[in-house]
Amino acid sequence: MTTLDIVGIEKSFGATPVLRDVSLALGHGEFLAIVGPSGCGKSTLLRIVAGLEAADRGSVRLDGQPVDALPPKGRDVAMVFQSYALYPHMTVAQNIALPLVMRDLDRRQRLPGWRLVSAATRAARRRIAGTVAEAADMLQLSALLDRRPGQLSGGQRQRVALARALVRRPRIFLLDEPLSNLDATLRTQTRNEIAQLQRRLGVTTVYVTHDQVEAMTMATRIAVMFEGRVHQVGTPEEVYRSPASLAVAEFVGTPRITVLDARLAPGGVMLGGRLWPAAFAAPPGGGAIGPADIRVGVRPEGFVLGDPAGPGMLAARVSHVEYLGSEGLAHLLLDAAPRGAVARIDAGLAGRLRPGETVGVRPDPAGLLLFGPDGRRLDARVGQPSSAMAEAS
Ligand SMILES: Nc1ncnc2c1ncn2[C@@H]1O[C@H](COP(=O)(O)OP(=O)(O)OP(=O)(O)O)[C@@H](O)[C@H]1O
Ligand SMILES: [Mg+2]
Repeated sequence: MTTLDIVGIEKSFGATPVLRDVSLALGHGEFLAIVGPSGCGKSTLLRIVAGLEAADRGSVRLDGQPVDALPPKGRDVAMVFQSYALYPHMTVAQNIALPLVMRDLDRRQRLPGWRLVSAATRAARRRIAGTVAEAADMLQLSALLDRRPGQLSGGQRQRVALARALVRRPRIFLLDEPLSNLDATLRTQTRNEIAQLQRRLGVTTVYVTHDQVEAMTMATRIAVMFEGRVHQVGTPEEVYRSPASLAVAEFVGTPRITVLDARLAPGGVMLGGRLWPAAFAAPPGGGAIGPADIRVGVRPEGFVLGDPAGPGMLAARVSHVEYLGSEGLAHLLLDAAPRGAVARIDAGLAGRLRPGETVGVRPDPAGLLLFGPDGRRLDARVGQPSSAMAEAS
């Protein structure tokens, strides 16, 4: 097992900065997912770790040792790409064996027929076949070893690519969107398989994806990147519950977080025509609290629906209802949410609610996430708006 430290990596292509001071640390056997929108620099970072690309500044360390001067081969890192890059004319077994054949046999030994004369080659080939069989067993490929890639499904091909990375027993696994060519069902299945396999093998792994569900469900920690910068590193729960920025809050979580317009005011936050008392851990903006436009995030489960005339309720119009069997989602239009709101509701209510209906919606103050004008989260405890204020508004 191996630790991986990515320290202060900077990279530009021409005048365009692609990675800005990226630092990440992985412990022995850890599974870290890097997630972010297309073009944020995920693949570039992975290629720098693999040694396929040089950084302008910063360092990559395996077990504390800088490997920046080493070529990809010298790093003992295995990378699996979105495209499986299997050899179409070779069988599954040959594809999986390839890295071992290249490493353990010299050019003459690789020739067909040579094994008939050399005992050493015979032994090496037996060892390789054993390792291939073991990897194939782990990835449920044993029955497919004689097929060619053209005779496999996308998921099977991706498993062959994984097996091929596995047989080398690398110090680090780097996986770049390995599931993006699979359909939805296969993706879910394969993502669980990869997560279990990684736990079983205990190989330190960096997994890159633009799919936040994949990142959240597979990794023990995730790093969220935007425009070459890591906004946050944390467990899926930390990133969901305490996002460092509005960008992270909007990127992580399905359905999306609702963003409400609000304003800082003496004593708290003006939201939906009411003052919500708020205690800030540090004064927003570093000084006295002045009026400023801020945004308030509410997760779908952070809303309560009820009578529009009820205390603390904001009037909303139902634009769409999703009935999902065990629960439902209400899509709502209200003044404070320019892009609409999504509330998780119980299945019974989802069955009754009709588009066009007017309902009351109340965010639970405990679930409010406040973001300052710069997009960073403000650490604040928000209380119930007073009913006196509610009547006054
Ligand atoms: N060889 C290159 N030359 C110039 N620009 C490049 C090169 N490789 C990548 N870029 C640019 O660097 C930025 C980051 O690219 P990268 O491939 O790392 O993004 P990504 O996060 O992996 O995106 P995706 O999710 O689409 O795979 C992009 O704007 C891309 O156009
Ligand atoms: Mg990429």
